[in-house]
Amino acid sequence: MSIVGINQEKCSKCKLCLQECRRSPFYVMENGDIGFNEKVLPCIMCGHCIAICPENAILTKDMDDIDTFAGIDSPETLIDYDDLFKLLRVKRSIRRYKNKKVPKEIINKVFEAMRYAPSGANNRTWRYLIISDQEKLSKLSTEVIKTNYLYMGFESGEKAIEYYQSIKRDPIFFGAPHLIVLYYETVQKSMTLLGLRANDVGIALTYGMLAAETLGLGTCWMGGLQGSIAANRGILDILEIKGHVLGAFILGLPAVKYRRTTPRSPLKIKGLDEL
Ligand SMILES: Cc1cc2nc3c(=O)[nH]c(=O)nc-3n(C[C@H](O)[C@H](O)[C@H](O)COP(=O)(O)O)c2cc1C
Repeated sequence: MSIVGINQEKCSKCKLCLQECRRSPFYVMENGDIGFNEKVLPCIMCGHCIAICPENAILTKDMDDIDTFAGIDSPETLIDYDDLFKLLRVKRSIRRYKNKKVPKEIINKVFEAMRYAPSGANNRTWRYLIISDQEKLSKLSTEVIKTNYLYMGFESGEKAIEYYQSIKRDPIFFGAPHLIVLYYETVQKSMTLLGLRANDVGIALTYGMLAAETLGLGTCWMGGLQGSIAANRGILDILEIKGHVLGAFILGLPAVKYRRTTPRSPLKIKGLDEL
């Protein structure tokens, strides 16, 4: 996937690409044509030049998803604020699921939504893993309980497991048929970079969860799984991955309906009153 130059026959020399690009590989050549020098600074492949070019003159390689549709130049016409706000308010973390897998093509829509999340410096090197094997989910759940039993209010992991078996409830994945994990394969020693990558993943995950909501699916963020990995590396072995888990959520058909929104604490905003 790369930008390989400019189609000079199409280019109207409007210089919008030059103004838009944050890295400046675009330049005006002696004859007035616009050039693209990929060696000046590495292109981060954000695609803004492609999106803004009125003549569609940016030459690309291996980019199959460039699109245009009504409303692309006025996003405010695509979704009404009130509708989006309602969706944000009704979206709940779901902890009861139907015993039924979600069709693959629907799950793919959730993944596709995550593909379009922004990320720092357009770095999208995280990977995805989906686990739909109940036995594996059950093993993972046991490991998380064993690590988090104190926080869950038990004296020991064994007591916690025994209790949840007796009430036939999985307190970690809640019987969801799927677990989606977002992770980095490389081991990152810098906590700052790791934090930034976690932000990226958090946004991708949120895109996926909101998309899932529009498809009638339920989700719940799995911070408990993520948090227990530091104390129990065996969880990575069950997941069969290396590196860092930076986000995870369960997905399935909700077996619950809500009748009203939930309360939220008031906002604390500095500076707004001065406007
Ligand atoms: C980063 C993060 C981690 C979370 N981890 C868990 C978790 O491990 N288990 C769980 O049941 N809910 C988890 N949640 C869900 C929160 O408890 C939930 O978002 C919150 O109580 C508000 O409820 P709502 O999402 O229905 O509005 C997590 C949420 C976030 C944002």
